[in-house]
Amino acid sequence: MSVVCNCFGISEEEIREAVKNGANTVEAVGEETSAGTGCGGCQSRIQEIIDEETKK
Ligand code: FES
Repeated sequence: MSVVCNCFGISEEEIREAVKNGANTVEAVGEETSAGTGCGGCQSRIQEIIDEETKK
C-alpha cells in the first residue's frame, strides 16, 4: 500500500475508494479524506488517480 498524501498518511487505496464513492475532483477527495488539504504537494497525484478511476 502506497501513501499518496504524506501530510495525512492517506493511501492510494483510500483515495481510489473516495473517488469510487463519488469524489471526482481534488477538492471533493480532500473533503472526503483530507488528502491534498495540507501542503498541496500531492494534488497532482490525486488528480491522476481521479483520471484513472473516472475513465474506467
Ligand atoms: S502531501 Fe498531501 S497535502 Fe501534503
